[in-house]
Amino acid sequence: MPSKEIVEKIKKLCNTINYHNYRYYVLNQPVVSDYEYDMLLKELETIEKEHPELISPDSPTQKVGGEPVEGFPPVEHEPAMLSLDNTYSEDEIIAFHKRVKKALGIEPSYTTELKVDGLAVSLLYRDFILTQASTRGNGRVGDDITQNIKTIRSVPLKLISDDKILKNIEVRGEAFMPRDAFIELNREREKKKLPLFANPRNSAAGSLKLLDSREVAKRNLDIFIHSIPIPAKGINSHFSMLKIINRAGLKTNPYNRFCKTIEDVLRYRTEWENKRKTLPYEVDGIVIKVDRYEFQIALGSTEKNPRWAIAYKYPAEQATTKVLNIVTQVGRTGIITPVAILNPVFLSGSKISRATLHNADEIERKDIRIGDSVFIEKGGEVIPEVLKSIPEDRTGKEKVFMMPDKCSSCGSKVVKYEGEVAYRCINVGCPAQVKGRIIHFAARNAMDIDGLGEKLVNQLVDIGLLKNYADIYYLKREDLISLERMGEKSVYNLIAAIEESKERDFARVIFALGIGDVGTHTARILTSHFKTMKRLRRTSFEELIQISEIGPVVAESIVKFFKDKENKAIISRLEEVGVNMGKDTKEKKTSEPLSGKTFVLTGTLSSFTRDEATRHIEKLGGSVSSSVSKKTDFVVIGESPGSKYDKAKELGVNILNEKEFKEIISNNEPQRTQSSQRKEREKP
Ligand code: IVH
Repeated sequence: MPSKEIVEKIKKLCNTINYHNYRYYVLNQPVVSDYEYDMLLKELETIEKEHPELISPDSPTQKVGGEPVEGFPPVEHEPAMLSLDNTYSEDEIIAFHKRVKKALGIEPSYTTELKVDGLAVSLLYRDFILTQASTRGNGRVGDDITQNIKTIRSVPLKLISDDKILKNIEVRGEAFMPRDAFIELNREREKKKLPLFANPRNSAAGSLKLLDSREVAKRNLDIFIHSIPIPAKGINSHFSMLKIINRAGLKTNPYNRFCKTIEDVLRYRTEWENKRKTLPYEVDGIVIKVDRYEFQIALGSTEKNPRWAIAYKYPAEQATTKVLNIVTQVGRTGIITPVAILNPVFLSGSKISRATLHNADEIERKDIRIGDSVFIEKGGEVIPEVLKSIPEDRTGKEKVFMMPDKCSSCGSKVVKYEGEVAYRCINVGCPAQVKGRIIHFAARNAMDIDGLGEKLVNQLVDIGLLKNYADIYYLKREDLISLERMGEKSVYNLIAAIEESKERDFARVIFALGIGDVGTHTARILTSHFKTMKRLRRTSFEELIQISEIGPVVAESIVKFFKDKENKAIISRLEEVGVNMGKDTKEKKTSEPLSGKTFVLTGTLSSFTRDEATRHIEKLGGSVSSSVSKKTDFVVIGESPGSKYDKAKELGVNILNEKEFKEIISNNEPQRTQSSQRKEREKP
């Protein structure tokens, strides 16, 4: 039994070292020498070795990583981890300000922050102790990477506070790899002949997904906390909240600024345009947030972005290099994209050796030839593009590129339809298209089949084991075990992941099918309208265009997809193996009073946030759309309604004020079950 003194000694050492970590890693203001710090840590390690039962979860010795893990369990995000709408000019910032001002009816103040290029993570503190950390994933579900996050030195394992608003708190931030650490890591990898990371962002993402946290500990990752998804009661301002959490040990960016007016925001933008390049980490823009939480709540969010914040991205950097060759790439829809193979150059921290040329018309318009010197640019999107050639540098040996008349993947004839710029391979059996469709099906935002990535899909298609995505569910252990790099364990895991994917939400299944023009949002609309595959596949063009937000192009594409014989067969095979084909909620439908009704919300409601109002409507079977059309059933108007109100009047759509809306909801609100009440109470 360890003595009371030992327990006390350990506690004191933990607190002292944690405090020095905070001074060093968070504030950048150490108060002891490295030697003194090392001595304290050694002392703690020695005592803990003798009394391993006394190692507490917030002990600084726990930051070195632990035993490798098997994988990363999923973590649900509530509220979802949204992303930011991007803007690229001062005009767009001003337009954002005007929108906000109009909706709120007053001029708000802002917090401006640097947009650090890393990856979003969520940290959960329970009883002041870090209990869970996760990646953003698809915004709704991410991966549990607690062990890895714990190794980041600026992440406190325990908050230095007894303030009850911080006792149980979720904070979100950006994990990143400083430039020096990235260069050093790549230098080491080069020596070991390992593939290099393209940029600090990728190396941060790659590091946080390592299964061995001891390796992560060596990667010198860092973090800035920038968001508090559920603001604490009594704290009104985001800027003040950032200060409070910083005092409790969380690292916030020292260049966050409170901006009283939009002019201050614009000055911040200008100030950091060049200054950001002197920072030891990559900053690709600024984030502008309405400062007061009550205003943030009133403005609410769309499905993807908050309405109270935007990102401004600094103009992309350009570089010059040489086009060594132009090749073509066939996508899952058969469109053939010309790609420039470049003499590798570094651009915004990434090594670029390929850049898209979009299509043949663009190559001609920009007059880009094989052998040309060119300007390339890395924009907001991941794929760099060739901007223009430098004809003055020509030697006469440059070659004009011609689109091939045969598909580079299957050799069949390439076609170009009247009025379209794209060249296409129309062989649906083309291996590149087949691979693309299967990769899309198994992707994270679709069926999320862990372990079935691009490389394995290519391999399985090449050896004939996969001809379409339904074949995935017919793969057998014997087929897989003989493949290169597939051991017993990975085969077992893959088969389990395939099995598990059968349970994915019906909306994901629809998205995974790869119907032209049907993205995740449309897939969700289709799910709420049709509920089952049986009903969806029987739909008609006329029925589809009655649905809010479904236009004729999408409608035609859906009808065409389900008419196709091969698609019909594939869907039947998916059904046979038990992939989720939706649930028939016919009986429920009649009991859902707003079933089939589309609402549009505009202006500020005094009793609900947008999200709350949306949840009420959806709970009663209705749906919420972002724009008013003839198909809209009701427009709910709050204070200072926007142009949607005018549109509703113009189209003669039913208009409800807040009181009328509340009446509809309360008259129809279903009885809450006991368990749902309990769930709500359990929330912190
Ligand atoms: S706020 C709901 N603040 O930018 C708003 N995001 O698309 C949540 N990012 O990957 C984001 N610096 O992690 C916010 N100071 C900052 C940020 C920041 C970087 C990242 C964020 C996300 C992306 C937004």
